[in-house]
Amino acid sequence: MTSPDSETEELDAKYLHTIPVYGREYQKYSIDKKIYFQPVDDNEAERLEREHCFFNGVFDNRLIFPPIHNPRRILDCGHGAGSWSADVAEQYPDCEVIGVDISPHMNPDDVPVNLWLQVDDLNRSFTFPPNHFDLVHSRMLATGIDGSRWPSYIEDIKRVLRPGGWVQLVEMYFNAQSDNGSLTEEHALRQWSTKFMRSMQGLKDLRVGTHLRNLLTAAGMEEVDTRMIPLPLCEWSTDPRIREIGAANRESVRELLPSLSLYPLTQRLHMPDDVFQRLIAQAQEEANSPKLKAYFPLYVCIGRKPL
Ligand SMILES: C[S@@+](CC[C@H](N)C(=O)[O-])C[C@H]1O[C@@H](n2cnc3c(N)ncnc32)[C@H](O)[C@@H]1O
Repeated sequence: MTSPDSETEELDAKYLHTIPVYGREYQKYSIDKKIYFQPVDDNEAERLEREHCFFNGVFDNRLIFPPIHNPRRILDCGHGAGSWSADVAEQYPDCEVIGVDISPHMNPDDVPVNLWLQVDDLNRSFTFPPNHFDLVHSRMLATGIDGSRWPSYIEDIKRVLRPGGWVQLVEMYFNAQSDNGSLTEEHALRQWSTKFMRSMQGLKDLRVGTHLRNLLTAAGMEEVDTRMIPLPLCEWSTDPRIREIGAANRESVRELLPSLSLYPLTQRLHMPDDVFQRLIAQAQEEANSPKLKAYFPLYVCIGRKPL
């Protein structure tokens, strides 16, 4: 777990303990410290790998969006199953890629020689040297970064970027929207979102995707560019490309809903398991309904540290 450049601490046994909840495994440290409430078991690692393939389809197989050529050092915040960082390390064999995650459980067995995976809490100040990385990547971290931490998280990212280096942020807003306005508060998909948001209230900012631009601008980043990509939950679109994304997203969403919310709803909101299972089943059914034309907004934002 050592890397050439970081002062991040050696792996401590406290990070390894897991606890079972309704058949899924969670990192005890994360749960106790209210860091992250999603499973860290093999099922989750496989889900993240499939989600990575889905994102590759959405992003036309581009891993890096800013105009970066021959990067020397890249940091992946919250590497999960290491899918993105391993692909980037393979694509740039001369680049040193470092992944940081609070959980080591989903790390792949084999990683490229130029990839180092470390355990650390991104809610704490970064220990990497300043002006170090060409790119810092952070994807789907809204459920793990503390709500109040976001401004200093972006400041830390900026500090460790070299002048002219880029940050690339990707966050989903888990409140389903409808392209024809037919989703109402009565729908299970909306009830699920409301309850999930409530379960994280005061802890995490699940709307962070909507203000990534403001965060980067406030931190003094330049060339900030944000895009909202509507991710259809099934193949309801008549546009062939969006229809294809919807078809690919069908399975992704079916897995995402329980993975995100099993612990938050049953343990933090004390929802009985059978009520939870029914809510998820209904939400999954609605996600598959072409009539509702439902989508999750995905926010992609890049910015550059001034020279
Ligand atoms: C939803 S997964 C996304 C993984 C990866 N970025 C991807 O897109 O495939 C979020 C990951 O961030 C990690 N994480 C969440 N909060 C964290 C924190 N405060 N510090 C370090 N890692 C964190 C989790 O352990 C998990 O592996």
